[in-house]
Amino acid sequence: MLDESNKTYPPTEAFTAQAHADKETYDRMYAQSIEDPDGFWAEHAKRIDWIKPFSKVRNVNFDHGDVSIKWFEDGTLNASVNCVDRHLADRGDQTAIIWEPDDPADEAQHITYKQLHAHVGKMANVLKEMGVKRGDRVVLYLPMIPQAAYAMLACARIGAIHSVVFAGFSPDALAARVNGCEAKVVITSDGAPRGGRTTNLKDNVNKALLHCDDDVKTLVVRRTGQQVAWHENDYWLHEMEEKVSDQCEPEEMNAEDPLFVLYTSGSTGKPKGVVHTTGGYLVFTSITHQYTFDYHDGDVFWCTADVGWVTGHSYIVYGPLANGATTLMFEGVPTWPDAGRCWQVCQDHKVNQFYTAPTAIRALMGKGNEHVEKYDLSSLKVLGTVGEPINPEAWTWYNEVVGKENCPIVDTWWQTETGGHLLTPLPGAIPTKPGSATLPFFGVKPVVLEPESGKVIEETECEGVLCLADSWPGQMRTVYGDHQRFMDTYFQQYKGYYFSGDGCRRDKDGYYWITGRVDDVINVSGHRMGTAEVESALVAHEAVSEAAVVGYPHPVKGQGIYAYVTLMRGTEPSEDLRKELETWVRKEIGPIAKPDLIQWAPGLPKTRSGKIMRRILRKIAENDYDSLGDTSTLAEPEVVDDLIENRRNRG
Ligand code: WTA
Repeated sequence: MLDESNKTYPPTEAFTAQAHADKETYDRMYAQSIEDPDGFWAEHAKRIDWIKPFSKVRNVNFDHGDVSIKWFEDGTLNASVNCVDRHLADRGDQTAIIWEPDDPADEAQHITYKQLHAHVGKMANVLKEMGVKRGDRVVLYLPMIPQAAYAMLACARIGAIHSVVFAGFSPDALAARVNGCEAKVVITSDGAPRGGRTTNLKDNVNKALLHCDDDVKTLVVRRTGQQVAWHENDYWLHEMEEKVSDQCEPEEMNAEDPLFVLYTSGSTGKPKGVVHTTGGYLVFTSITHQYTFDYHDGDVFWCTADVGWVTGHSYIVYGPLANGATTLMFEGVPTWPDAGRCWQVCQDHKVNQFYTAPTAIRALMGKGNEHVEKYDLSSLKVLGTVGEPINPEAWTWYNEVVGKENCPIVDTWWQTETGGHLLTPLPGAIPTKPGSATLPFFGVKPVVLEPESGKVIEETECEGVLCLADSWPGQMRTVYGDHQRFMDTYFQQYKGYYFSGDGCRRDKDGYYWITGRVDDVINVSGHRMGTAEVESALVAHEAVSEAAVVGYPHPVKGQGIYAYVTLMRGTEPSEDLRKELETWVRKEIGPIAKPDLIQWAPGLPKTRSGKIMRRILRKIAENDYDSLGDTSTLAEPEVVDDLIENRRNRG
C-alpha cells in the first residue's frame, strides 16, 4: 500500500488566484461561522431568494428526547423558483442541463433555463391534474433522464414531497418505499437503457404496485418506446402534457416544509426515510456546490452519481441549479462502451468540475491509462470524490493521469443525513493529502469521541468516532413518520451530539481521515447497505435458517458483501443453491445487494444470550485469524474453528 499520508499537495498559485477562497478567506469565514453562526448564515442565506424573509436563523436542540432542528423557520420560499425562475432574466438561454444519453451514438441534449422552466411548469400541472396536492408524496423511479430533474422540481413547485427510488432497486424494495411514504403517484419510464442493456422499469412498477394501495397512480415517461403492460391508473406524460399549460404558479413554502424524503440504509431494521426541508437544504447545497468545487459562472459541472442517491439530489439538481450552473446528467455507466466514456464526455462537453466515487476511479484505473490519454481533458479544473474512503493509489492515479497534476482533488465526506459536504478541502485554500477529507466546511463543528466513554478527545492527534457538535442548515430533520427513530439513531449514543456512524482519525495538522463505518452498515461501491437488510432477504428463502452478513475488503468495490448462511436441517449446500440465493437477494433488494461471497456456516458464533458476534465474522471474512479477540464468551467456541477451516479452504 502506498504511504502518502505525509505528503501534501497545495493548490497552484494560479488556481488560488482565481478561486472563491484562499487559505486566509477560508480561515476567516470558518472562524466567523463558528463564532457567530447566526450572523454567518443570515448573511449567506441571501444567496437564496426568499418570498418572505426569515427573522430567526436557527433554533436547534440536540438533546435526546427533545431533538428539534429548525433553520430560517419563519421564512418562505419555493425551491423550484430558486433553481429555475430566478435565472430566467440573466441566463434564460444558458444551458441548465446537458443530458448525455446511454448510447454515445445518440445526440446529447442541451436544455436551457427557459426550456427547463417550461418542462417543470408542465410536469407540475400534470401532477396537479392527477390530484397531487401540497404535502402529498410522489415516488420517482426513473433512469438518468432530464425528466427526473423536471419531476423533482415539479414536486417542489407545487409543494409535493418527492421520494426518488434508485432504478436499480427491485419491485419489492420499490413497493416498500411507496408504502413507507404513502405515495399518491409513481413516476417512471417505459424502459431504462444503461450500459447498452434495457431494464423494463414500468414492468417493475407494475409488480411493485401489486403490493400497494389500488389508488396509486403511475405517470410514465416515454424513453425507449418499448411495449409496456398498461393499467387503468396509468398515464403517459406526453399525453398529459398536451392538456396542460407550461405556466404553474409556485406554492409559497415554509423553510421547514419537507422538500424530499430519501430512503437510506441503517444498521438495523428497514431503510429509513431521511427528511430534508426546503430553506436550509437549499442554502447548504448551494453554498457547498460553489465553494467546494470552486464553481464559477459559465462552468460545466458533472457529478456522475445517480439521482436515486443523495449525491444526485444535492449535486446534480439542487446545488448546481440553485447556482444557475450548467449541470451534466449522464444516463450511462463509466465502462460502456469502453472505459474511456467519462473522458470522452468530459472532452465533448468541456467539463470543468468532475465529481465521482472512488469505486469508479478504481475500476477505470484498472483498465489502463490509454483510455484516459486518448481525450483532451484540458477543460478540467477540479476533481471530486465521495462515498467512501479513497485509497492513496486511486487518489494518485486520479491526480496524475486524469488531473495531470493540475486539478485540486476535493475528497468530500458527507452523508444522506447531512444534505451536503461537511468535511472537504476548498480547492484554492486547503493543501490536500491523499485519503483525507481534510477540514470542516463553514459552520461545521466536528468532534472526535472515545467510542466507549463518549468523552470528547481534545488532543489534535487522535482516533475515535466522528460526531458533530452543532447543527448546519443542510442537516436532516427527522425520519419520515418516526421522529423517535431519528433521535435514537443519531442522538442517543453520544448525548448532545449528532453521531455520524463513522470512525475517524485526526492528524497533527487537524486533518480528518475517515476510517469507515463503526456500525453494521457496509459501503459497497459507495452505496450504503444495511447488513440487516441483506440478512432478512436471505432468511426469507425457504432453504435458509440463519444468515449473518458482514463487509470485507474488495479491490474495486471498497467493501464486498460476505454472507454466512446456515441452511435448514436436511438441506444440502450446492453450487446451484448458492446461485439461487444470489438471484434471490437480487430479486428481494436489487443487484447492488447481491452477496459477493456466500460461505456455508453450519453454526454461527453467538454469545450465550444469542447475539451473533459480528466482530469475529468480520475478521474471518478478512482472512485475519490472529486477532479474533476474546472468544471465551461464545456459547459454542468450536463453531469459529469450523468457519475458519471453511474460509481457508476457499483460498
Ligand atoms: C461514507 C453519500 C470516506 C461514510 C454522500 C458515510 C465517505 C457514508 C466519504 C454515507 C468520504 C461518504 N470518505 N467515507 N469522502 N463520503 N463516505 O449516505 O461512511 O450514501 O457515513 O452518502 O459514506 O453514505 P451516503
